[in-house]
Amino acid sequence: MSLSINLTVNGAPQDISIQDARVTLLDLLRERMALPGTKKGCDRGQCGACTVLLNGKRVNSCLTLAATLNGAEVTTVEGLAKGDSLHPVQTAFIENDGFQCGYCTSGQIMSAVGLIAEGQAGDDPERIREGMSGNICRCAAYHGITKAVQEATRAMSDTHTGDVK
Ligand code: FES
Ligand code: FES
Repeated sequence: MSLSINLTVNGAPQDISIQDARVTLLDLLRERMALPGTKKGCDRGQCGACTVLLNGKRVNSCLTLAATLNGAEVTTVEGLAKGDSLHPVQTAFIENDGFQCGYCTSGQIMSAVGLIAEGQAGDDPERIREGMSGNICRCAAYHGITKAVQEATRAMSDTHTGDVK
């Protein structure tokens, strides 16, 4: 039995037919929607590589069943830039060396966008580390990640460009 849902992904409404109620948002994005920017690390909610925004809040897409998302809005890393202009969080990750191999980076960036939108990041590195603690980096690029979140928080409070919609 198939199930139809309507989902808005990166601003584009999509009608999707789901054949298996167990399919996750992560697999839907990567395998059905050609959006491989969202990464599969552990596939069990432990690493944060699969983080996306769901109705503006960060979630692990590997733990989110696609069948539950009728009417939802999803933003992935592919939806952050506006044309050639990177999102301030993307720019800050580049400028602060917030990555090495890059495998965790899209999840880190989406989590940072969510954290800043929550208004919880502030300028305190300890609070940023706590707020980003669900995102594991096996390359241990944490110093640059924390600096990037600090810098993006400042840039976005100066320019009010944190809106990802
Ligand atoms: Fe989802 Fe690791 S792949 S938390
Ligand atoms: Fe390699 Fe984070 S940059 S896992």
